[in-house]
Amino acid sequence: MGKDVIIACDFATAEQTFAFLDKFTDEKPFVKIGMELFYAEGPEIVREIKNRGHKIFLDLKLHDIPNTVKKAMSVLSRLDVDICNLHAAGGLDMMRGAVEGLTRPDGTRPLLIAVTQLTSIDQQRMENELLINRPLAEVVMKYAANAKEAGLDGVVCSPLEASKVHEACGSEFLTVTPGIRFADGPAGDQQRVTTPAKAREIGSDYIVVGRPITAAEDPVAAYRRCVDEFCSK
Ligand code: C5P
Repeated sequence: MGKDVIIACDFATAEQTFAFLDKFTDEKPFVKIGMELFYAEGPEIVREIKNRGHKIFLDLKLHDIPNTVKKAMSVLSRLDVDICNLHAAGGLDMMRGAVEGLTRPDGTRPLLIAVTQLTSIDQQRMENELLINRPLAEVVMKYAANAKEAGLDGVVCSPLEASKVHEACGSEFLTVTPGIRFADGPAGDQQRVTTPAKAREIGSDYIVVGRPITAAEDPVAAYRRCVDEFCSK
């Protein structure tokens, strides 16, 4: 599995997204499309970005009963995206249903990864609001193990958890990690951040980078710096 930098295209409209992607004349970065853009523009935005030659991580974080997720994943498989995701909290049957739904008649399917616990949930919230009285790290590892058992390809996790996930689930099990910042850049609202170089050292398979690229004065240079630090050393 090749390491790659995925740009989080957290824009509100297709117009803004294409204005951003048009800056990349020499390369076709892997892009992440999230709920905001997908709900605003619909599946057409996925087809258009795909037609321009980009790989796509469709970050819709499905979570529902197994039958509904299976059918929704079957629809998404026709969009020809490269990575989809769901919440591991939906349980083993839901994840198994997702794999089944995502698998095309010819046996191929996009990669499927699971969100373990959102980074907005800390130990205190998990205990007080979700009534889960176990250490957060243990919950993350259990959800990752469930995802593997259900046949998924990996998890979204903090780069700081990536090596533990690989230890527990194997080096082939993918870790896709947001929370990336340049050593000399602002952290913004991300609490626990890592540089692209450090993420590589820890063993992340893909890094998801938003504002350090999208809000940079020169987004193409910022993207190349990420690729250089993460992929090519
Ligand atoms: O701008 P920034 O680099 O912080 O963007 C990170 C991207 O990764 C955003 O699209 C955010 O929603 C996503 N993400 C995250 N933390 C998670 C899961 C997804 O920051 N645990």
